[in-house]
Amino acid sequence: MSKKARIIIEEREVEYPIIIGTEGEKAIDCTSLRSDTGYITFDDGYGNTGSCQSEITFIDGEKGILRYRGYSIEDLARQSNFIETAYLILYGELPTAEERAQFSKLLTDHSAVAPEIAQHIQTYPKNGYPMAILSSMISSLACYYPDLATNDRVRDRENFDIAAAVALSKARTIGAMIYRLIKGLPFVEPRADLNYAQNFLHMMFSEPGSNYEPEPEVVDALNLILLLHADHEQNCSTSTVRMVGSSEANLFASLSAGVSALWGPLHGGANMAVLKMLQEIHDSGDDGSRFIEEAKSGQSDKRLMGFGHRVYKNYDPRAKIIGEASDAVLKKLGLTDPLLNIAKRLEQAALNDEYFLERKLYPNVDFYSGIIMRAIGIPVEMFTVMFAIGRIPGWMANWKENAENPKSRISRPRQIYQGPTERAYVPVEKR
Ligand code: SDX
Repeated sequence: MSKKARIIIEEREVEYPIIIGTEGEKAIDCTSLRSDTGYITFDDGYGNTGSCQSEITFIDGEKGILRYRGYSIEDLARQSNFIETAYLILYGELPTAEERAQFSKLLTDHSAVAPEIAQHIQTYPKNGYPMAILSSMISSLACYYPDLATNDRVRDRENFDIAAAVALSKARTIGAMIYRLIKGLPFVEPRADLNYAQNFLHMMFSEPGSNYEPEPEVVDALNLILLLHADHEQNCSTSTVRMVGSSEANLFASLSAGVSALWGPLHGGANMAVLKMLQEIHDSGDDGSRFIEEAKSGQSDKRLMGFGHRVYKNYDPRAKIIGEASDAVLKKLGLTDPLLNIAKRLEQAALNDEYFLERKLYPNVDFYSGIIMRAIGIPVEMFTVMFAIGRIPGWMANWKENAENPKSRISRPRQIYQGPTERAYVPVEKR
């Protein structure tokens, strides 16, 4: 196959190199298009535009494939856990037993947050947006760890391992504190004898002085949720982290921007919207058909939340894993959830409806994740916070990959101007 693409512009033929990825993905490298021809490409929403070459995550949307560093999400969900998978995503290889122990110890050593951070979180209103608190407190880590956030790319890269452990561990602790804040409960200190997921549950659900021991089934369910959210190539929030990091902004600032991008209901905010939609169907006694009919109206505020995806034009493999795990987790915990049955009915109805089939709209990661989070006691207002904490390894690996790329430049897309052409100023008395 020719390694060149030929484009004819105004009777002039120009050639551009073709890039082929390890999984056969193909791109036209038009880096010099504007300087050669004066033209730029236009691709609203970047659906056909590659922003980088990456070795972290591979998705085949047509086949419903998702792999972190070559390992399938199904394998990792069955055999690994969140922290081991986070290490894989960050460093490219599954850790040895010694590397895994060292990484866990680093996270444990950085579990606690400065008292000033705790006091700061206390100042937020109890009904404040959890994602607003998470984004601002992650950004504020730069104030408490200025040596890890120098905005000097060489120094920030040298300190990446510590900065990454600080971010991953403290974001979890901050997330638990946000839960305690909105519940009006006192904060609970982390314990050095608990692992990442156990400590998360301990800091959320322990009563001070009690010897709360999270049930293994709940720890496993939390690990699964976090692992399934750990990375997802160049989605909206990860591209945001890369964009911010491309200016040589520090890791904490870049992660904070990622949290803000994830907040939107079309992205990470969808898991909350799904639960509210299922609850509304349940409370209305509707069997979901009214929702499906409304969703087919094309009105953006009537969409079937948790359905559809820019890349997956087949089943999101994470949705399949979470859907199957929902039943198992509820059974293990001796719980039932009417919303799960509604979700399954909704899925079946949609997957037999021409509107969804012809648009290749299938359940995505957000469709079932709320069922499991509810089962382990996480309130809906915390769902996107859990997604964000799960996504931190992927955001950090992309920040690192960009920072280590000697050819990386500041991201600066172009535009086609459609505003007024030049005109002279008119003094106010003559307007
Ligand atoms: C995540 O990118 C990632 O990797 C994201 C993510 C990750 O891990 O980072 O996977 C996480 O964000 C998952 C997506 C969560 N969002 C939702 O569940 C919200 C509901 N879904 C949609 O809003 C939508 O499907 C998107 C935002 C996910 C994708 O939007 P696109 O690719 O821009 O698709 P589109 O809006 O152009 O829709 C194409 C057609 C339109 O109909 P027509 O104009 O062709 O007639 O499909 C329709 C849309 O109206 N459509 C839906 C629909 N999603 C798309 N119709 C009803 N319900 C839906 N959910």
